[in-house]
Amino acid sequence: MSTRIPLPYSPKVLELFRNPKNAGHMEDATVKATAGSPACGDMITLYLKIDEEEVIEKATFESYGCAANIAAASILTEIIKGRPIEDAWKITWKQISDELGGLPAIKYHCSILAVGALKRAIREYYKNRERPKWLPEKPTQEELQVLEEEKMIELLYKRFSLKQG
Ligand code: FES
Repeated sequence: MSTRIPLPYSPKVLELFRNPKNAGHMEDATVKATAGSPACGDMITLYLKIDEEEVIEKATFESYGCAANIAAASILTEIIKGRPIEDAWKITWKQISDELGGLPAIKYHCSILAVGALKRAIREYYKNRERPKWLPEKPTQEELQVLEEEKMIELLYKRFSLKQG
């Protein structure tokens, strides 16, 4: 008998997990970025197609994370599609969580990773372009949070592997 207690996911998370929107690789992406750890599988890659007006024409994702990660990435791509990059930059993981009807606290990092991938993709886009005024030169608190989460994921994975091994 399983002793696992099902997580209290909202109906929106479950719906997007079962029928994710914008899932998949994008051949003609202008930019892509990954957040998470390939070592343990909690990972998301975001693809953005950006037009000359700096508007996000298309957004897709590949997720190797859990249901919450898939749902967060899915809703994120829906929100940023058709919006200027500057608007997309302002999206927070909390907003994504709220759009999903809330995430269990243990799943906050799934949303943090999704938004982290977005921030990285935007940074990547401006790597060889002039940095706009709205884009801070130094990493923001949210970007630092992603790095923390990535460290944590790897640490937990190592501990878990040691116990299993
Ligand atoms: Fe959801 Fe890690 S990405 S548990």
